[in-house]
Amino acid sequence: MAEPLLKVESVVAGYGDIKVLWGVSFDIAPAETVCLVGSNGAGKSTLLRTISGLIKPESGSIRFNGKDIAGASPQAILAAGIAHVPEGRRLFGPMSVMDNLLMGAYLRTDKEEIKRDLDRMLTLFPILAKRRDQRAGTMSGGEQQMCAIARGMMGRPKLLMIDELSLGLAPKVVETIGEVVAQITREGLSVLLVEQDVMTAFELASKGVVLDTGRISVIGPTSELAQNPAVRQAYMGISPA
Ligand SMILES: Nc1ncnc2c1ncn2[C@@H]1O[C@H](COP(=O)(O)OP(=O)(O)OP(=O)(O)O)[C@@H](O)[C@H]1O
Ligand SMILES: [Mg+2]
Repeated sequence: MAEPLLKVESVVAGYGDIKVLWGVSFDIAPAETVCLVGSNGAGKSTLLRTISGLIKPESGSIRFNGKDIAGASPQAILAAGIAHVPEGRRLFGPMSVMDNLLMGAYLRTDKEEIKRDLDRMLTLFPILAKRRDQRAGTMSGGEQQMCAIARGMMGRPKLLMIDELSLGLAPKVVETIGEVVAQITREGLSVLLVEQDVMTAFELASKGVVLDTGRISVIGPTSELAQNPAVRQAYMGISPA
């Protein structure tokens, strides 16, 4: 089997004395879409923050593209090729859509390629082309999510992590974003999705990771997880027949 792009092994992490992740292990292959599901407070955002370097793991290893990145700075991890679209989108509200997108490329120096990628983002998300000069903070939730994802893509990551992709968005918008996610994975990018809506998560991702109070309880193809009675009951609200 090909070497995974990301390999998380026995990661323990939290906030000061409070441990949130208790030995988390999973991996992501190149061009694979993996969803991370679990109840509120399970530690999903904490896991993304640990991978992107915002939190230093207490122990365990995180290998990305053949390199050990556990404990590296967020900037070094971004430069290595991991982009993080955080919960709540965190755009620069007073700045225009264009400037937000350019912020995503701040570590890059290849001006011509940046311009090409910018054009590509505006093609992938035509609404952003219409809104290019609008202040990001005044856009709708769906437009802001698209802008946040496009900003993440502007760093040319090999792995894009999206926290709460569908939160507060209309089904139609989720569908549009889902199509873009499918397209970018066809082009070779890996995606790690955190999703409250497990149905949507299983549709978008080929592999699922279930996090249960800081520990992984199940990992498997989403087609299998969707049939798993415990997963159906706990996360999809479907009682056993
Ligand atoms: N900055 C922080 N300081 C201390 N504890 C925190 C901090 N951020 C989160 N926690 C705690 O860590 C645990 C996991 O939180 P986390 O945000 O990772 O969960 P989550 O799975 O993303 O939940 P949700 O689905 O609600 O987004 C929670 O108990 C939370 O209270
Ligand atoms: Mg969260």
